[in-house]
Amino acid sequence: MNLPEHIRKFPYVLAPLAGYTDHAFRLICREYGASLTYTEMVSEYTIATPRLKPRMVKITHFTEAERPVGIQLFGNRPEMFHDAAKACEEMGFDLIDINFGCPVRRVAGSGSGSSLLLDLPLAAKIVENTVRAVKIPVSIKIRSGWDSEKQVFLDFNKMAEDYGVSIITLHPRTRAQMFKGRSNWEHIRILKQKSKLFVIGNGDVTSRDEALRMQKETGCDAVMIGRAAIGNPFLFKQIAEPGYEPTVRERLQTAKRHFELLYSFKEMHGLFEARKYFNKYIKGFDRAADLRKKLMTIEDREEIIKVLDSLPEMQEPIK
Ligand SMILES: Cc1cc2nc3c(=O)[nH]c(=O)nc-3n(C[C@H](O)[C@H](O)[C@H](O)COP(=O)(O)O)c2cc1C
Repeated sequence: MNLPEHIRKFPYVLAPLAGYTDHAFRLICREYGASLTYTEMVSEYTIATPRLKPRMVKITHFTEAERPVGIQLFGNRPEMFHDAAKACEEMGFDLIDINFGCPVRRVAGSGSGSSLLLDLPLAAKIVENTVRAVKIPVSIKIRSGWDSEKQVFLDFNKMAEDYGVSIITLHPRTRAQMFKGRSNWEHIRILKQKSKLFVIGNGDVTSRDEALRMQKETGCDAVMIGRAAIGNPFLFKQIAEPGYEPTVRERLQTAKRHFELLYSFKEMHGLFEARKYFNKYIKGFDRAADLRKKLMTIEDREEIIKVLDSLPEMQEPIK
């Protein structure tokens, strides 16, 4: 598969989201149209070290129906990226994405993620080792820079071009901004003008109109959607089909399918994880608050399914 060509047919992809983009959520977003999804970020060390494999199984599990699916690596040890990349290719992933954007202390504080925006030579070694190790495409996901004084997205683009990267994704906030303020789409426009790579724009897209606006204003090749897709995979279909609104019944049935996928994959842990999705799927109609409250306390699979099946008469779209 030529990945950029595939994405171009429907240029809207699901962002990697730690704690969310597991097999269940990726599959559902793929079914609603997302043309590419990624695993949650996983360290190069975890993947490269065979004895840790049982711990990573849940993160790296994917099914054929999800393809194309990328795995996202973070870390700061170039030699381990080589081994990790090879392992990812053997696992059958379609893409390896390298995280140069994560701002959280656990990652950036240990010299990985966004802190590599301060060390272009080390980032370049990581990229070089990864690209060299595999035949599948490699992408990088970056922020604009560490802070407003140190904007490095064009330097990272040049490095990525030089070392054979295929796709670059820009979330145009600085590390210092974390998730505050607005992302600066002007950086995506500048990147697209200068880059020879396939450019994915990311940041604050919450609706069909916003997705189209990002494309129009920046010229980016594709749009990546993160937070707005949580409990709302419908957004991908809304982009494809203007006017489409899921009915209450569809929301509940999708929540049920998501729950069943989570449960069959993670059992009781999946049941507890489903709660964070229920809050997002189940809203905007009369009995939503009651239903959510109920679902937060039930610890039995059958009971949850019963509740999600309990409003079959509600067919109208949410306004
Ligand atoms: C809960 C959460 C987890 C995230 N996990 C990752 C991750 O594992 N890898 C990554 O590159 N970005 C991660 N991000 C950043 C998103 O991929 C994305 O760049 C950011 O949320 C901006 O896009 P949005 O406005 O569409 O959400 C995460 C963001 C959130 C809110």
